[in-house]
Amino acid sequence: MEYFKLNNGIRIPALGFGTWKVKGDDCVNAVKAAIEVGYRHIDTAWVYKNEKEVGQALRESGIPRSEFFITTKCWNDHRGYEATMKAFQVSCENLGTDYLDLYLLHWPKPLDAESWRAMEELYEAGKIKAIGVSNYHQHHLEDLKKTARILPMVDQIEFSPRLTQEPLMAYLKEEGVQMEAWSPLMQGQVFDIEVLKELAAKYNKSIAQIVLRWNVDKGVVVLPKSVTPKRIKENFEVFDFKLDPNDIARIDALNQNIRTGADPDNFDF
Ligand SMILES: NC(=O)c1ccc[n+]([C@@H]2O[C@H](COP(=O)([O-])OP(=O)(O)OC[C@H]3O[C@@H](n4cnc5c(N)ncnc54)[C@H](OP(=O)(O)O)[C@@H]3O)[C@@H](O)[C@H]2O)c1
Repeated sequence: MEYFKLNNGIRIPALGFGTWKVKGDDCVNAVKAAIEVGYRHIDTAWVYKNEKEVGQALRESGIPRSEFFITTKCWNDHRGYEATMKAFQVSCENLGTDYLDLYLLHWPKPLDAESWRAMEELYEAGKIKAIGVSNYHQHHLEDLKKTARILPMVDQIEFSPRLTQEPLMAYLKEEGVQMEAWSPLMQGQVFDIEVLKELAAKYNKSIAQIVLRWNVDKGVVVLPKSVTPKRIKENFEVFDFKLDPNDIARIDALNQNIRTGADPDNFDF
């Protein structure tokens, strides 16, 4: 595993396990399979309706809580100071933990400033090790900064070879906000891209491994999801090679600004 350092000094594993759309026993089994091969960073959200199953898998692994890096997210309906405080409690109860490693505002919404005040208090009380946002563009961050006392440590956004978000990435770097990539495999749509096939052959790796390594080489925390044990293991095996700068540039050049998910500027949940 490789790690990046957040702007408050917390170490974050560069690879985390995504759990969107994974529910019930499938979730318990997938998270257990991930822990078995070495993942210690798990990404969930209240709205995924699987925090309890993630918590169950963590407990049944027998591995101490302190060895895990657990992220969950405050849903859009839970905005405002009191609602965010309550949402944090509910997520902790679901997960069976008394602290979170990372708590994110899931999408930019009105009342985020008040929610952020709650997150700052929870952070200062030591109940959250790092606080951040998700799906924030530069203008959303600039709005938050008007009232925030503490800058977000993380912004989790959609990022893939077809959506490289270069201006936002440069802004986050300048601000010291760690970027995380959601849907890094474009929910399964990266596998037809010719350049990635060539690179997979060149490095004797799979397309998924090339894409995940490209993230890590670019300093991006990456969160692949799979319910298939063989793929869960494959996606973890990306720490025994690095991409040449020319090949990183070839993947960068695949950008077409194509999203697989919603655009934060044109979608209202
Ligand atoms: N903050 C947000 O708003 C937000 C939004 C979306 C996602 N996320 C986070 O990001 C995580 C990842 O995104 P995602 O779940 O949308 O999709 P993803 O990781 O881009 O892709 C998952 C898909 O790729 C397949 N796959 C995974 N590894 C593979 C491999 N090695 N070879 C071939 N196919 C493979 C999976 O199939 P199987 O599962 O069938 O193996 C699944 O269909 C989420 O789970 C969630 O934690 C956050």
